[in-house]
Amino acid sequence: MELILVGKHINFAYNQTPILNDINVQFEQGKVHAIIGPSGSGKTTLLSVLSGISKYKEGSIEYKGEELSKLNQSKYRKETGIIFQNFNLITYLSAVQNIVVAMDIGSIKGNKLEKAKALLTQVGIKEEDWYRPAAKLSGGQQQRVAIARALATDSEIIFADEPTGNLDSKTGQEIIRLLCNLASEHNKCVICVTHDMRFRKKADIVYTLSDGTIDT
Ligand SMILES: Nc1ncnc2c1ncn2[C@@H]1O[C@H](COP(=O)(O)OP(=O)(O)OP(=O)(O)O)[C@@H](O)[C@H]1O
Ligand SMILES: [Mg+2]
Repeated sequence: MELILVGKHINFAYNQTPILNDINVQFEQGKVHAIIGPSGSGKTTLLSVLSGISKYKEGSIEYKGEELSKLNQSKYRKETGIIFQNFNLITYLSAVQNIVVAMDIGSIKGNKLEKAKALLTQVGIKEEDWYRPAAKLSGGQQQRVAIARALATDSEIIFADEPTGNLDSKTGQEIIRLLCNLASEHNKCVICVTHDMRFRKKADIVYTLSDGTIDT
């Protein structure tokens, strides 16, 4: 078992309102982790703290044994990728451009265009769809592009917040399969907030949040 991210005694508050209380979680390379729980229980907040978007003040989060708050933040950004329910692509850019832009931001070297095409192939986007504006792709295709973008900087952790929430059942199933495959075949650590029962069944590890605490 190879732990990549470990959170201990994480507390987090918005202004004075406590949202996360004494959270203990650990995430492994090559595994799919589901974070489930009722609306308002703190799932998105936990994901934003783990991904470095929100800063925790109490407790610790260690990425590969190093305290997150002491790490070079742009390095952590590069080694992690985030996907959202509403895809969050730049809609007027093509699939290829969305990925190349992410590599530009991450200062990735090498042939970015070729790498973008390889990633799009990996997530199942056909060549005929590579150059159309993202707005003209289906929801499932947009989510695939978002996953390719999350991988574009050689991310080792993929965070996802309800990635199947805006997709029909069949397309959602395909996205679940794709994310599970990234863990089992490509040794990525997948951390996914979800309401989707199918995702929960496929996950190797499930954390249930209620009222900002994890049931153990
Ligand atoms: N930016 C913010 N400022 C203040 N309070 C917030 C903020 N974001 C979320 N909250 C509050 O924090 C609590 C947890 O919200 P969070 O979005 O993490 O829940 P969630 O489990 O992701 O819910 P959902 O399933 O509906 O997405 C809620 O009470 C919410 O109102
Ligand atoms: Mg949420």
